[in-house]
Amino acid sequence: MESRVKDLSLADKGREQLYWAERNMNVLLEIRRRFEKEKPLAGHTIAACLHVTKETGVLIRTLVSGGARVVLIPSNPLSTQDDVAAALVGEGVYVYAWRGMGERDYYNAIGFALSFYPTVTLDDGADLTVTIHKLRYDIRDDSVRYVLETAGGLDVEKLVTNLAGGTEETTTGVVRLRALKQAGKLLYPIIAVNESYTKYLFDNRYGTGQSTWDGVVRATNMLVAGKSVVVVGYGWVGRGIAIRARGLGARRVIVVEQDPVRALEAVFDGFEVMPMDKAATEGDIFITATGNIRVINLNHIYKMKDGAVLANAGHFNVEIDVVGLERVAIAKRAIRPYLDEYILPSGRRIYLIGEGRLVNLVAAEGHPSEVMDLSFANQALAAEYITKRKLAVDIYKLPDELDREVALLKLRTMGIEIEQLTEEQMRYITSWELGT
Ligand code: NAI
Repeated sequence: MESRVKDLSLADKGREQLYWAERNMNVLLEIRRRFEKEKPLAGHTIAACLHVTKETGVLIRTLVSGGARVVLIPSNPLSTQDDVAAALVGEGVYVYAWRGMGERDYYNAIGFALSFYPTVTLDDGADLTVTIHKLRYDIRDDSVRYVLETAGGLDVEKLVTNLAGGTEETTTGVVRLRALKQAGKLLYPIIAVNESYTKYLFDNRYGTGQSTWDGVVRATNMLVAGKSVVVVGYGWVGRGIAIRARGLGARRVIVVEQDPVRALEAVFDGFEVMPMDKAATEGDIFITATGNIRVINLNHIYKMKDGAVLANAGHFNVEIDVVGLERVAIAKRAIRPYLDEYILPSGRRIYLIGEGRLVNLVAAEGHPSEVMDLSFANQALAAEYITKRKLAVDIYKLPDELDREVALLKLRTMGIEIEQLTEEQMRYITSWELGT
């Protein structure tokens, strides 16, 4: 199968991007050095459905160093960095990705990946994994039809039998896979990389916290200082966005949250908390991060101030009711790259960033490399973990030792030393005779 990318002549530019990312991804580089010697992935074909960014490129190079044949397809049609895709093709990776591909191309890409009969899948949002399940359970929808256009004659039983395991990068993907498990339908073992501390504490919180604002600022060039910011959802992602809003000088940071414990946490963290109905009238900038559907609906949008800016940092483009907005708007026009203006029947103007898709990946470049270093170190170790053992069909978290190993490597590459317990202290904190 032939790779398909936008323009192979962008490869030189892509290699510079990869060089820059690698400067800040020392944990992954250390794993790569070990993989080069040990070749733990030899004989495996890895299908990676991830945002095609420079950081993903560094992960892919690491997997190739470990001896794997790698196929790379996008986990979002709008997040691909075309220069990186071109550079990876030049390094022997099979890539089917270009920025702005349509829905049909997106599922053609999944068909492309499956036609290699992968032994391991790496996923971000679970589109690849869920599609494999749809094929096996013979669910005939458009996505499956498009998959079969590039994977004609696919032997689904062989595909499923070949799979040693898969990984899942994000909260929403893990939720979808747990639902499959709950329904008794999960077909192969999955490692929920999102559940490693060194993933969600850093990537979801600090990575999304910074890169979401990077996306908002690039798309609008607005000053955040003095604005009222509404953050919907106070999970790991929402916490990061709220902290950074405060750091940028927002006049008010309002949190909308349905879970009482998390809402209380937001209050104690110093933020205002209120329901969306009320927050709708207060905000200048709204950012969703819930993994849920229509958390900003048309009723909320009707109440917003003229000029309100909306963006989404959650995995799917369903958090803001974009379909409803398209339907009721009396006019729409593109103002700048990734910024659309909608005029409501009342004459008020609403600005939507990146069509309501992941703002940090669409309007910016995704998480900074330093953060993806941790997430992708977990991905590389999870791929190795799968190939080293025969896992039963279930959803797993990576062992805590690996979490500690990743954190320690990161600290070491940052030149930071930490305290070591003495033998006496170790004995003391594991003894029942505390205090003596
Ligand atoms: P989480 O599960 O920790 O937090 C989500 C929060 O939203 C929960 O506290 C939940 O109670 C709240 N929520 C749900 N429905 C709500 C509603 N209608 N109104 C108010 N609050 C509501 O999840 P996490 O890790 O914060 O992830 C959130 C989303 O962001 C997921 O879709 C995840 O996949 C995505 N994500 C995006 C990243 C990016 O790069 N943009 C990076 C990491 C995760």
